[in-house]
Amino acid sequence: MLILGIETSCDETGIALYEAKAARLPGRLLAHVVHSQVAMHEAYGGVVPELAARDHLRRLVPLSRQVLERAGRRLADIGAVAYTEGPGLAGALLAGAAFARSLAQSLKVPAIGIHHLEGHLLSPLLGARAPQLPFVALLVSGGHTQLMRVTQVGSYELLGETLDDAAGEAFDKTAQLLGLGYPGGPALSMLAETGRPGRCKLPRPMIASGDLEFSFSGLKTAVLTLMKKEIRPEKKDLAREFVDAVVEVLVAKCGLAMAKTGLTQLVVAGGVGANKQLRAALNDRAARAGFEVFYPAAELCTDNGAMIAFAAALRIQAGKITPDPNHAFSVRPRWDLAALG
Ligand code: KG4
Ligand code: ZN
Repeated sequence: MLILGIETSCDETGIALYEAKAARLPGRLLAHVVHSQVAMHEAYGGVVPELAARDHLRRLVPLSRQVLERAGRRLADIGAVAYTEGPGLAGALLAGAAFARSLAQSLKVPAIGIHHLEGHLLSPLLGARAPQLPFVALLVSGGHTQLMRVTQVGSYELLGETLDDAAGEAFDKTAQLLGLGYPGGPALSMLAETGRPGRCKLPRPMIASGDLEFSFSGLKTAVLTLMKKEIRPEKKDLAREFVDAVVEVLVAKCGLAMAKTGLTQLVVAGGVGANKQLRAALNDRAARAGFEVFYPAAELCTDNGAMIAFAAALRIQAGKITPDPNHAFSVRPRWDLAALG
């Protein structure tokens, strides 16, 4: 069955075509395209929700055509339309949901609402080297930092999460303090590569708390304090120390989660999962502690339609889709992943 996946929760319009096979057989990603709105929001230093929703509306039809063309398929070949139902920006979600639902109704195929984070955390299963269930997942995005135990599709237990800022948010806010633009995660990470370790000192928040909670909001304040000092560290050294601090905390908590659950596979998902330093440090810890780490392909780390189509395929395989004959729909700007079934 051919599944069209549509992602519009924030500032990327992602569309993909995934060919699902019969139960237990792996399917195939036929094509996917992503349009990033970063350039449009840059001038405002963050995502402007109304502009995001309008831009999704403009892109949905041309990007869907493009994906069909690249895959060499026609509209009539589509067997289901999956879309991000939440969490995310209400207007942005509504743009995708309305398009997906209308298209599905016109094609007389099911429409499937998907949890954005479920898409992220199942995306490493799309890779050639895929983990087996059960596994621990670290979700690190602009809006979330969570450790989950994934027992099966739809069964997600929250092990711990951030009490304040998400890791990606800490990256973005610190990058802004350093004048690196928005979203600053990748730029900050690149600057850190040129920085020298240990030239200034930032805290490692909650690293020894013994639990799986995080707190990243204090880091930007600590960065600001260092920047106001009479003898300021160089930006690149500050960037290096910031990245080291975040990475050390994430790696320590992942190690603890593996020890606490006794599981041997860790899946990393979400935009911050693209971070090179995090990957290197996690791989190192895994080799020493005897667990395996899995990442989605780099292009599938940030928001995309492929992960939405793929999550829908797994839900269909698992018999976890409830068709809605009334074609009624809503979006869920706030939606707890652990509440999924
Ligand atoms: O998962 P995602 O695309 O969107 C959300 O659902 O939030 O994650 C975006 C976040 C942003 O905060 C961005 O700065 C961060 O991921 N990010 C990175 C890197 N690439 C993206 N942070 C650190 N290093 C990177 N290489
Ligand atoms: Zn995301």
